Amino acid sequence: MAASRIYIFNGFERLWHWLQAALIITLLVTGFEIHGSYANLGFKTAVQVHTLAAWSLVGLWVLAVFWHITTGQWRQYILTTDKFMAVARFYSVGIFKGEPHPYKVTALKKHNPIQRMTYLAILIVVSPMIWVSGWFYLFYGSWRAWGLEPYLSLQWVAFFHVAAAFMMLAFLVSHLYLITTGHTMGAHLKAMITGWETVHDEPDTGTAAK
Ligand code: HEM
Repeated sequence: MAASRIYIFNGFERLWHWLQAALIITLLVTGFEIHGSYANLGFKTAVQVHTLAAWSLVGLWVLAVFWHITTGQWRQYILTTDKFMAVARFYSVGIFKGEPHPYKVTALKKHNPIQRMTYLAILIVVSPMIWVSGWFYLFYGSWRAWGLEPYLSLQWVAFFHVAAAFMMLAFLVSHLYLITTGHTMGAHLKAMITGWETVHDEPDTGTAAK
């Protein structure tokens, strides 16, 4: 079976991916301590680290949005029905039978249709929910001065923030599983470290991760 290597993730994308991963894991760990799920750093330190990581993520996302717009890479997230059912069938049945992956990765189409849908959902549902609730949380002390007090409830803000945190956690777990499903266990991980993905000509047994 012929194999070729394609350069799929450039330096900025890899840096963005790993910084984002580190910040989101920090936010999950400190967030669930604030929530009272366990004690580790202590409540006060957990709040300080959480706030610092949240602002760092804001900065990183501003850079990432700028990069996606200026390079045209935002197109990688446009939804498509092309091969959607074939990929859904692969992840629910074919993968357990060792069948080849029905989607072939190219530098212009890095994400299969299910990845596109998942990343877009994170981008337009989970992230806004976590940001908006996080900001209301952060500026709780100013609600009265800003005239927001009659319209907002801390309980609802906390509910939406924690619900979005659970969605982010569910994404992380499935993401880690899918990373192991390339043509070798570490192939997708290697691609996000080196930038290079090995793709096999027919039949293909892997896809760009995640
Ligand atoms: C992946 C991103 C994030 C996750 C997983 C996360 C998770 C959490 C969790 C689980 C809590 C505990 C909530 C409770 O029990 O009521 C929390 C609290 C909080 N989060 Fe986040 N969060 C994230 C992002 C953010 C962002 C972006 C901001 C601000 C812009 C933010 C600001 C806050 C604040 C202010 C609190 C309350 C701290 C306190 O009680 O003083 N979070 N977060």
